[in-house]
Amino acid sequence: MLRIENLRVTYGEAAALDNVSLWLGDGEIACVIGPNGAGKTTLVNAIARLLPARSGKISLDGEDMTGLTPQQVADRGVAIIPEGRRLFTTMSVEENLELGCYRPAARGHRAKGLADIYAMFPILAERRRQIAGTLSGGQQQMVAIGRALMARPKLLLIDEPSLGLAPVVITQVFETIRRIHARGVSILLIEQNAAKALAVSQRACVLDCGAIVAEGTAQELRGRPEINAAYLGHGV
Ligand SMILES: Nc1ncnc2c1ncn2[C@@H]1O[C@H](COP(=O)(O)OP(=O)(O)O)[C@@H](O)[C@H]1O
Ligand SMILES: [Mg+2]
Repeated sequence: MLRIENLRVTYGEAAALDNVSLWLGDGEIACVIGPNGAGKTTLVNAIARLLPARSGKISLDGEDMTGLTPQQVADRGVAIIPEGRRLFTTMSVEENLELGCYRPAARGHRAKGLADIYAMFPILAERRRQIAGTLSGGQQQMVAIGRALMARPKLLLIDEPSLGLAPVVITQVFETIRRIHARGVSILLIEQNAAKALAVSQRACVLDCGAIVAEGTAQELRGRPEINAAYLGHGV
């Protein structure tokens, strides 16, 4: 599905990602864990083509994406749940959800899409007319998840969904991610909360200072003492 080879991304002369390679199989859920400043959001933005690659290659189903616009990446079925949710806080819940299906391929599924999201998150159905900025953090994350699902993605990039949420809400968010994966969506999950991310993932890699420093099955990484010591104590 997704293959990243020797990716280098820089801000000015400073490399935020250097020689990063990773892949995600069809229907798989994998996570990229790592501390603050490791380059995780840079990786998401590079995959979405919101940031240019200095060198290296990103391909989706065998097609090189490095020359595409962000719109073209979205058209190929890639959706992002961005760090910090990025809702339109003065618009209603439903208006935010509708923004997820502006693409021609998804527009015809607006009614079905909304019904699906409201079935998944009944609280959002109750609050469909409420201004998004007045929701709790957990509810805002539901809207961000719903908005991405409205595009009917085949690949979902989720950037730090647990950020700023209470532990009980974090548990619910990860349970939702598990359900979305069970529906057949491939997921690349980016997290500082390594323990939670590893618990829902099949494979994982650790990003630190812009480089992949470890990778393996989620189970393997959980069993490695040096990974535990360095990374699993981090996050919430
Ligand atoms: N717009 C930017 N301009 C310059 N440096 C940036 C910019 N965004 C991020 N960085 C730097 O790139 C590195 C990786 O940042 P980021 O990808 O946001 O990390 P993470 O998401 O893992 O916390 C950090 O050192 C950060 O300071
Ligand atoms: Mg980040």
